[in-house]
Amino acid sequence: MQPLALLGETTTPDGTTLSLTRRGPEFIILANGKPLMSNRMHGSEEALATFGCARVVRSAAPVVLVGGLGMGYTLRATLDVLSADATVVVAELVPAVVEWNRGALADLARRPLEDPRVRVEVGDVGQALRASHGGFDAILLDVDNGPAAFTSTTNVGLYTDGGLAAATRALRPGGVLAVWSAWDDRKFEQRLKYAGFRVAVEHVRARLKRGGPRHTIFLGYTD
Ligand SMILES: C[S@@+](CC[C@H](N)C(=O)[O-])C[C@H]1O[C@@H](n2cnc3c(N)ncnc32)[C@H](O)[C@@H]1O
Repeated sequence: MQPLALLGETTTPDGTTLSLTRRGPEFIILANGKPLMSNRMHGSEEALATFGCARVVRSAAPVVLVGGLGMGYTLRATLDVLSADATVVVAELVPAVVEWNRGALADLARRPLEDPRVRVEVGDVGQALRASHGGFDAILLDVDNGPAAFTSTTNVGLYTDGGLAAATRALRPGGVLAVWSAWDDRKFEQRLKYAGFRVAVEHVRARLKRGGPRHTIFLGYTD
């Protein structure tokens, strides 16, 4: 087996060590030594965009918030379905992740940060949500393993009643909140309904038609 090469390392605001590593063609981002994501499987990250943007494609000059950047697959799939007059705001907590996507990771998702429709905000996606009043047609969240498994302790507030109320306020009428999760979560589904969303749940394979683990996408519609 080829050795794992360390390409970069950084510390997140809550003290987690994030490492960018490479073994042959595979890039892996580790959080405190445990795999956070790899370029081997990204079908469900792309499905987050296609499900989340399904209605947005009909909007004039749509504005979509993507949080976080990871390896750029959700961002690429978002750009691929949206029109030339769209704006995609990417909120990424870790500055080094943005740098890696401009460098070693750039080609994995066909250099999405170079698309003129993209605006990068380095910071907490929760902050971007709270700062928006009806600004987004869709909010696509993939910052954790799921609503009950946080990669950052500060993320818990995204999935509480208060966090969901902030997401509702940040959406335009008819907007969509889409949340990626490694698992089903009935409590989160209930919380979305309680927050006033019409809820749909999609199950997708990590490699789409080619198998892999099954992931969950929660969709909350404001209509
Ligand atoms: C699993 S990755 C996202 C993968 C991405 N969907 C893709 O297609 O590659 C999670 C990302 O969210 C970022 N993140 C974690 N908490 C965040 C927050 N509160 N605000 C913005 N980004 C955050 C992490 O630094 C990481 O880049």
